[in-house]
Amino acid sequence: MSVPVILDVDTGVDDALAILFAVRHPGIEVLGITCVAGNASLAQVVDNTLRVLDAVGAPDLPVAAGAVRPLLEPPRSAGHVHGLDGLGGVPLPPTQRRPEPVGAVELLRRLILEHPTPVTLVALAPQTNLALLLRTYPEVAGNLERIVFMGGSASVGNATAVAEFNVWHDPEAAAIVLDANVPAYMYGLDVFNRVAVEQEVAAALEHGDDPLGRVVGALLGHRIALSADEQEEYTGLIGDAGAVCSIVDPLALRTEVRPVRVELAGYGRGQTLVDLRGRRGEDMVHGLADEWANVEIALEVDATRLTRLFLETLGLAGR
Ligand code: BDR
Ligand code: CA
Repeated sequence: MSVPVILDVDTGVDDALAILFAVRHPGIEVLGITCVAGNASLAQVVDNTLRVLDAVGAPDLPVAAGAVRPLLEPPRSAGHVHGLDGLGGVPLPPTQRRPEPVGAVELLRRLILEHPTPVTLVALAPQTNLALLLRTYPEVAGNLERIVFMGGSASVGNATAVAEFNVWHDPEAAAIVLDANVPAYMYGLDVFNRVAVEQEVAAALEHGDDPLGRVVGALLGHRIALSADEQEEYTGLIGDAGAVCSIVDPLALRTEVRPVRVELAGYGRGQTLVDLRGRRGEDMVHGLADEWANVEIALEVDATRLTRLFLETLGLAGR
């Protein structure tokens, strides 16, 4: 039986990889996709998402546009990571697909409440749409299996020294989602940064004869200027796709259920604080501990196993 999922995306090079994987994996049924401003502007994210669906020959799936900006702050796209078009300049042909006439919150509500079994919400972007949904229609929580989100970190950040981009872009939204009493699974930078395809493999795909392989190879091969001296580097990260892989191969990851909360103030704004202590601390002893959400956090990953799953699902292993 396949897992019914809705993807919330800010496509995005690695959101694109995640969509390709989710559409192709027989264990996943994509009910629809909602879009939010993040890696690129909302309009660009919607267009990219529709083009990616064409690239993988997806059936007619509902796609809806959501929030144009975070709850409090202006949008701050990640053009230096994903390129100005959000897809790292990887050219995908224009599409005849059109977004739904309703917005993301309405589409999410309908898809979740109308589904006969609980739905898994897969958040691969800033969580603005999810927060608006949960504030507008809190009853959807009753038909959510869980929220699997790419975001946060129990260690290092990327947007800041301590904050991961998706949570940093809309910290209030992430805090609202964690507070919603829906089981949550965090696929954060602790594992995100480890799952990469080797450069020779990506290059062979990009220059091979399989049309989907060329797209995947080009997306993986997209280079990013991460160092201070602006040198562009190959990362080969499958990124958000790894969070989707975790749904069908959970044993490839080691997880722990830990208390988590989102910092909202100061330099730590957007950081996911993860309580990794194995003992009581003074805050608990003296009754000073706030409420934290208990979240299943992926802390280690068998990266080879996930990249193999990713490539095999797309029919690209050994090409
Ligand atoms: C996350 O931010 C975006 O750049 C990626 O698409 C991913 O969802 C990583 O921090
Ligand atoms: Ca993303």
